[in-house]
Amino acid sequence: MKILVIGGGGREHALAWKLKLSPGVDRMFCAPGNAGTAEIGENVAISVNDLAALVRFARENRVDLSVVGPDDLLAAGIVDLFVAEGLRVFGPTKAAARIESSKIFAKELMRQQGIPTAQAGAFERSDDALRFCDRLQFPIVIKADGLALGKGVIIAPDAASARSTIDEMMNQRRFGEAGRRVVVEEFLRGTECSLHALVDGRNYRLLESARDHKRAFDGDVGPNTGGMGAFSPADNWNSKQQLQFEEKIMRPVLHGLLAERITFRGLLYPGLMITEDGARVLEFNCRFGDPETQAILPRMKSDLLPLLEATIDERVGNCSIEWDHRPAVSVVLASGGYPNKYETGKIISGLDEAVKLEDVQIFHAGTSWVRGELVTAGGRVLAVTALGSTIEGARARAYDAVSRIHFENCHYRRDVALTAGTDNIGKLL
Ligand code: AMP
Ligand code: GLY
Repeated sequence: MKILVIGGGGREHALAWKLKLSPGVDRMFCAPGNAGTAEIGENVAISVNDLAALVRFARENRVDLSVVGPDDLLAAGIVDLFVAEGLRVFGPTKAAARIESSKIFAKELMRQQGIPTAQAGAFERSDDALRFCDRLQFPIVIKADGLALGKGVIIAPDAASARSTIDEMMNQRRFGEAGRRVVVEEFLRGTECSLHALVDGRNYRLLESARDHKRAFDGDVGPNTGGMGAFSPADNWNSKQQLQFEEKIMRPVLHGLLAERITFRGLLYPGLMITEDGARVLEFNCRFGDPETQAILPRMKSDLLPLLEATIDERVGNCSIEWDHRPAVSVVLASGGYPNKYETGKIISGLDEAVKLEDVQIFHAGTSWVRGELVTAGGRVLAVTALGSTIEGARARAYDAVSRIHFENCHYRRDVALTAGTDNIGKLL
């Protein structure tokens, strides 16, 4: 089969790597890909924003299955375009992707189905939003309704910052149209956990749990990033929580979508806060997490391709997934300055030494080949994943690999997978 993976980050490299291991795959395209995907397949120089060109490429090259990585393409309706052309594609339709692209839609669905989540209100007028803030205890959380490159969630410690955040989002349109409407909600205390489910409309199969590290610096401080590392399984997850999660979150959300006549086929990733009263939903994502995917897929023993196919064909309920019981730790190497201003074009060395280590897998994100040199080309550059018989062993091995890789101004967190027991209240300080 010919596969096209759409996107160019670490998640897409991990997806392409895992799919390439399938005996069913004989050709792998990545658009636009990165230096890592170029080693396992053929990069196609099409921007992810050029949906028409992606459709054309898949049609002209008789691609058998396209797999979409990024959320904004799903929200823009890339799957609907592929399907209209009779092309097979993994991911939810535009209508189904609203579960991520509209926080108000997701909140309303949760309310209707009684899914545990933060108490919230949705607003179109800033004065209504401000009045609602007075009814909650600070800190409170203010979220732009639409997609805002992961920056649309602000935690306001007091009334003054709530007022300025609401004004910036709703009146000054700091996030454009995405902030025209906002959700204001209660701040939940606890630890976060990422669950991934292959959903075929009616049935689903859960992948192994994971936790990511969103803040730039050790100790969960500094600005939010796209993710500085992840580990799997999550240390705050157990089988009892999983049963409750399935009963109170997974089944009701699928039921609620079907009641809205929405068939969600693809990857549904609820982001959870594990509170004293159990798991509550922070958000629903409609695609694989980044960097969770880089920690989860190296643990998957089963072939991913038939699982994606079963999801599309509405028979995922018959599938079982085999896992490597060993934990995985994935450390992201970023360009100094990320998520703010950073330089690119720095020569990367030491990868050959690092990959020689047993049970180490290196996924590229912002990398490219320039005049025969591997150089940095983005904020997040690499994700270095290692398996180990214990989480400590996996950590030690991942950091051993990291220590062999060099580029100027390389920045990474030293505490990936060391967060056991840390709750999110510390992040505010
Ligand atoms: P979201 O995009 O909704 O997942 O929000 C991004 C991040 O903001 C989450 O991963 C949490 O760290 C934080 N967050 C979102 N909602 C809440 C909440 N109600 N209480 C505490 N933290 C939150
Ligand atoms: N790991 C966070 C995300 O993919 O949204």
